[in-house]
Formats: sequence, C-alpha cells, structure tokens
Amino acid sequence: MRDGSRASWSGQLAFVLAAAASAIGLGNLWRFPYLAAKYGGGVFIAVYLGLSLTLGFVLLVTEIAIGRYSRQSQITAFGTLGHPKWNFLGVMATLVPLFILPYYNVIGGWVAEYFVQYVKIAFRGGGFEDPSAFFASFTADAWAPFAAMAVFTAITLAVIVMGVKKGIEKANLVMMPALLAMAVALAVYVAAIPGAGKGIRYYLVPDFSSCESIGKVLLGAMGQMFYSLSLAMGIMITYGSYMRRRDSVPKAAVRIVLADTFVAVLAGMMIIPVVVLFASSGSGEIPSGPGLMFETLPAVFTRMGGAGAAVGLAFFTLVLFAALTSAISMTETCVASVCDCFKTSRRKAVAAVGLWTVVLGSVSAFGYGRWSFIKPFGLPALEFFDSAMNILTPVVAAATCVFAGWVLRPRRILAECRRDGSRVWFKTFYVIMIKFVSPVLVATVLASELCRLFGVGGWKL
Ligand code: PFF
Repeated sequence: MRDGSRASWSGQLAFVLAAAASAIGLGNLWRFPYLAAKYGGGVFIAVYLGLSLTLGFVLLVTEIAIGRYSRQSQITAFGTLGHPKWNFLGVMATLVPLFILPYYNVIGGWVAEYFVQYVKIAFRGGGFEDPSAFFASFTADAWAPFAAMAVFTAITLAVIVMGVKKGIEKANLVMMPALLAMAVALAVYVAAIPGAGKGIRYYLVPDFSSCESIGKVLLGAMGQMFYSLSLAMGIMITYGSYMRRRDSVPKAAVRIVLADTFVAVLAGMMIIPVVVLFASSGSGEIPSGPGLMFETLPAVFTRMGGAGAAVGLAFFTLVLFAALTSAISMTETCVASVCDCFKTSRRKAVAAVGLWTVVLGSVSAFGYGRWSFIKPFGLPALEFFDSAMNILTPVVAAATCVFAGWVLRPRRILAECRRDGSRVWFKTFYVIMIKFVSPVLVATVLASELCRLFGVGGWKL
C-alpha cells in the first residue's frame, strides 16, 4: 500500500495535464457539439457545466483519492483498502478500458488515415472528392483499417513503454498545448467567416423550445459526462495512484472538469457554424459520431475552397492528438493493472496489452469488411462493444459510489483530500452527494442506457 518505488507525476500540473489529456478525446469533439445542438444549445451547455462541477467533481475526487490512498491501479485498489470482497469491482473497472481500448484504437486508426489524407491534400491541393464513398471503401477494405489500427496502437505503446514521466508526461506536454492552440485558432477562424454568427447563436443561445424535456437534457448530459471525464474506467484511480501526496486532489478535479468542458464547448464553436453554413444536407440536423467526423466535416472542408485543406489538416491533427492522448491513458491503465495484478515487469505488461489490443481490435477493424458477418445482437462488432461498455460504465460508477459512501466511508476520502494540508470546504456536500444523490443519478443513467438498448420508451439520445 505504501509502495515507494511506484512511479509518480513530476507535479500537480503534470497530473492535471495527464488527466485532462485522457478526458479530452473523441467524446468532446464528435459527441458534445451534437448533443448541445440537439438539446437547446446554451441550455445543454449550462446543465452540463453544472453537472460536471457537482456530480462529475464528486466522482473525480473519489476516484483520484482512492488511487492515491491505495497507491494501486483499480484492479487491486479496492481490495488494498481493506475490503477484499470488493476486488470484484476492481475487476469490473478493469474490463471497461480493456474492452474500450481495442475499438477506440480502431477509430484512432481511422483518424490517422484521415490525417495522412489531409497531409497529401495539403501538398497537392483540392480536397476530398467524395468523403462518404472514401469512408465506406476504407472501412470495408481488406487490410487498411487493421493496418491503421496497428500503427496507432504502436505509437501509444511506444509512449507507454517509456514510462510515466519520460513517456506519458512528455507526450502530453507536446500534444496538449498543440491541441489547445489549434482548437482556439480554428474556433477564431470559423467565427470570422461571414455568416458564422447564425451557427454560433444556434449553438450558444439557450433555446428552451428545442430541448424536449429537461429529463432528456439531464440524462444526455450525464451520459456524456461519464464518458468525457473518463470516469468509471479506472483511469482516474490509476492516474491518482501516481499523484504526489503534497498536491491537492479537489483543486486538480476542478481543473480537469473545467479543461474538459472548455475544449468540448470550443469543439462546438469550430464545428457547428461550418456545418450550418456549408453542409449540403439542408435538413439542419447536426450529425454525430463517425458520420460527422469522417463524412460531413471533410465534405464541408472541401466546400470551403482554398482554405479547406489547411483547416482539414489542422482539424485532423487536433483529433489525432486528442485520440492518442486518450488511448494512452487507457493503455496505461491496462498496463498498470497487469503489473499490479501479476507483479510483472512493465515491458511484459506492455507486450501483453499490445497483443490483446491488436487481437481484439481486429474484430472491430474487420467488422465493416471481411468479417462483417460477425454481428452480435445485429450490430457491427465495434458498435456492439461500444453499447456493452455504455452499460458497464454506469454499473461500475454506481458500485464505486456505494463503495466510497457506505463501505470505505466519505471520511477516508476526505482525509486523503486533506493530506496536502488544505482545508476541505465541501465536506457536507460531498457526504450527501456520494451517499445519496450520486448513486440515484448514476442508476438513472443505467436505466436510460438499458431502455435505449432495448428500444423502450423512445429514449434515443
Ligand atoms: N474521455 C475520452 C473522450 O471524451 O473521448 C474517451 C475515453 C478516454 C474513453 C479514456 C475511455 C477512456 F478510458
């Protein structure tokens, strides 16, 4: 429990940067803007920020404190804290990144392919002729999606094998400021396009008439928040286990929430106005997910004319960095779990996790082409894994709340927060949230995910 040889971040900034790098990923770029546009613009943004600063803050503090207190990754953390019966929760929390990582890397491979395409476009000029046809033929190709995933995975493994300080910290130090600079530059550029005001208003101004019901807005925001803050995936526990005792847990949590929300809002500022201005569909609907990123946006960049190539290259560099830093955090969590559980060397753990990622990832990579006959529950493999993880994540989150609130007890978490000597001003709030409010809210997300999966009650978010 007091493992002096455990790696540690070099400081508070390095920890916040790493946790924010994990949080800021594809979820911020392709899901948040879509949800905000769908659920009343500013209404959704305000609800999301409010939820992140309350529920998100409480869950982040809990996970980080469990990690730092136990000095273990999630797989052994719960048992190490004197509750061996709760080891099952560690195993469940490990399954989440273990199963998300392979298909996340497949999507990372798609992003890498588009990045390469835009490098070529930047040199030769022009743009994507028909992004939808390209996307369909690329994902159905015999080997290309697998090769792209393998390259993306190799990059993440190369960072991980170098360790926490020399690998992850250094990579974040390059990629995160670059990501932020490109996001700000793109948002400013887009705001200056004549006619962009309409899209910006559509995105930012609260529109109560379009947000159907406040229940749906709340559920949409909560579901998005778990994924976006990398909660219930063991990541914040593992990253917390590398945190120095003299650094402040709550301060770090607030900064992570603010950084994640800032980039999510910024993503909408660069995406929504150009889609509203240039998209040809005319339906006014903002698509989400792969459709937005790999079809709509490249088509929009082509329609932007001369500047489109540069904008496309900057955009896909940004997306690549966001995907890489998130994948790195998942890989590290898996590697740390293998090390802590089997007491093996980091190199061997990296090899094992790499092999697992490529083998399981190939099912998703080939899922739109040569192995498209594999359709669990009628879904392509990648979408099946994604849906399954949407169910497992709230289960882990709810169990973590019960563990922290009723088994370990809030005072142990709060004591960990006081370690750096700072006053804990949110004691009563934390106790009420972790014991009563959070489990209920998380259970609602789980119920809505189940309804969505089984198509009950029209809960399609
Ligand atoms: N939080 C990341 C995002 O918003 O895209 C995604 C993510 C990172 C998911 C790490 C899962 C994970 F383990």
